[in-house]
Amino acid sequence: MCGIVGYVGVGDVGNILLSGLKNLEYRGYDSAGIALHNNDRIDIFKAAGKLENLYELVSDQQDKLAATSGIGHIRWATHGKATTKNAHPHLSNNGQLALVHNGIIENYKSLREELEREGYVFLSETDTEVAAHLFEREYKKWGTLEAAVSSGVKYLKGAFAFCVIHQNEPEKIVAVRQNVPLIVGLGEGENFVASDIPAIVGKVRKIVYLNDGEMATVSRNAVSVYDFNGRKVDYRTEYVDMSPDVISKRGYPHFMLKEIHEQQDIVRHLLQDAYADGQKIPVLQKVHIEEAAKAEKIEIIACGTSLHAAAVAGFVFEEWLKIPVSVIAASEYIYRCCLTDEKTLTIGISQSGETADTITAVKRAKEHGAHILVLTNREDSSIVRYADSRLPLKAGIEVSVAATKSYTAQLTCLYLLGLALAAERRSLSLDELGQLHDELRQLPTKMEKVLNEAENVKAAAEKLKNYHQMIYIARGINLPTAMEGALKLKEISYVNANGYAAGELKHGPIALLDENMPVMAVLTPGNRVYDKMISNCEEARARHSLLVGVSFDEDKTAERLFDLLLTVPPVTEVFSPLLLALPLQLLAYHIADLLGREVDRPRNLAKSVTVE
Ligand code: F6R
Repeated sequence: MCGIVGYVGVGDVGNILLSGLKNLEYRGYDSAGIALHNNDRIDIFKAAGKLENLYELVSDQQDKLAATSGIGHIRWATHGKATTKNAHPHLSNNGQLALVHNGIIENYKSLREELEREGYVFLSETDTEVAAHLFEREYKKWGTLEAAVSSGVKYLKGAFAFCVIHQNEPEKIVAVRQNVPLIVGLGEGENFVASDIPAIVGKVRKIVYLNDGEMATVSRNAVSVYDFNGRKVDYRTEYVDMSPDVISKRGYPHFMLKEIHEQQDIVRHLLQDAYADGQKIPVLQKVHIEEAAKAEKIEIIACGTSLHAAAVAGFVFEEWLKIPVSVIAASEYIYRCCLTDEKTLTIGISQSGETADTITAVKRAKEHGAHILVLTNREDSSIVRYADSRLPLKAGIEVSVAATKSYTAQLTCLYLLGLALAAERRSLSLDELGQLHDELRQLPTKMEKVLNEAENVKAAAEKLKNYHQMIYIARGINLPTAMEGALKLKEISYVNANGYAAGELKHGPIALLDENMPVMAVLTPGNRVYDKMISNCEEARARHSLLVGVSFDEDKTAERLFDLLLTVPPVTEVFSPLLLALPLQLLAYHIADLLGREVDRPRNLAKSVTVE
């Protein structure tokens, strides 16, 4: 995923674009660039690496940043390395047309060959550059930027959002959307284009969401929207109800830490909404609960952290609903024999709603007749198009690349969904529902306690920071917790951490254990797997591993056994993943921070992955 911003108006164009890119940094940070329309020419500034490099490049060229319009881009490399040459904006051969792109042009190879045969010279390895030359060719035929772009996009296959400017048409940006989000921000005497609201938050109050197959002509005082055949389309404006504060760190050193500390409030609000007016069964406004509850089987599809939330739900739903539940990585679902049918409830989970694997999988499930329920943090995202029912995560924009608050929001929504389905299916008694409801409502206070009393997590991080590897183990419902803990650690600290079912340790991974391999055990006293977990920890101790545990307060056995122990208040086992995730998030955060890693922007990653 990359980030796009465009601006036309009397403001300080260069700096407006740079600040927009700053707010889109979570979408990619391999390279960045801007193109400025300076009456009779287009100036381009590009730099490989972090956005700071672009800031540095332009720092002594402020006089060149004044312009009438401009476009900017921040890249997460897909086709072509993260070099300055491959950075956007890309320029047409005659130097008159510049564009930025988010998405993938699938047929770029054949188009490149065609354009090379026609004499166009390519300077980069990207798929994007074909569009620059293609639009130049069409411009020569049709004479206006709108006509060139609407003719050009018909040659393209794949997913794309473009912003295009042309030297002969000052004060104009043409923006196009096909399967990749793009919005237009409406100001007073100025207008914006952006991949996402943070780029323009605080600058405009009204926005237009472009739909797939639409393009907009954006000038200082007017915005028009057309379909790809040039027919004018009526558009709806919506108010931006986001304060600039949502993309501020609010005094925290990193977005990740801020987002970790937001979690108890997010969960509290989700519960308040679902249990408004004193009801005992959660009411989920956008879920067709009757229809969803008729399902004979459930499939849950997601990637990464969302897949771990799905895996927790797999345990919970089987217990509460007594029907088969399969949890499948979206990238794998697509290649399996598909048993999805109209009796299936398919739940797609995606924080961003833009993950290509998850979208493709959900689309396939829909084609097979399943009821599609989507959990997403972005109600304006692409996955929502396929949803019959929706569960908004309401976690607010998650800026840190490592997901934290969206994970606990996903768990909360999945618990609520499970309870609502169980009530509808009568698979839990009213007493059982009441008890679970009471337990659930105590979680925010317990979460707050964990987050407010987390000094020992930092101390544990100090002791663990110099290990190059770590194994996380758990059994049952907390196996996904262990896997999520390991994922958090590896993705932001680059420590090789892997989660295993504790019972599997002896079938292979135990060979790795020695004094250089700490074992992190996730366990909860008082359940059927606790004793077995303790035995597995003893096995690790016998191999000289440093033993780290995450368990409940007052777990006396754990206090004796573990070298380091992180604790959370006791809670019913089914809800323990929500609490146990918190110290593991904090541990990963502190280790990464102590190692001097770029916590919010880990290498090679981007906030959402829009390629399969
Ligand atoms: C890890 C992380 C990723 C995402 C995954 C799916 O911290 O953020 O593993 O969870 O890329 O993203 P969404 O949920 O946006 O589909």
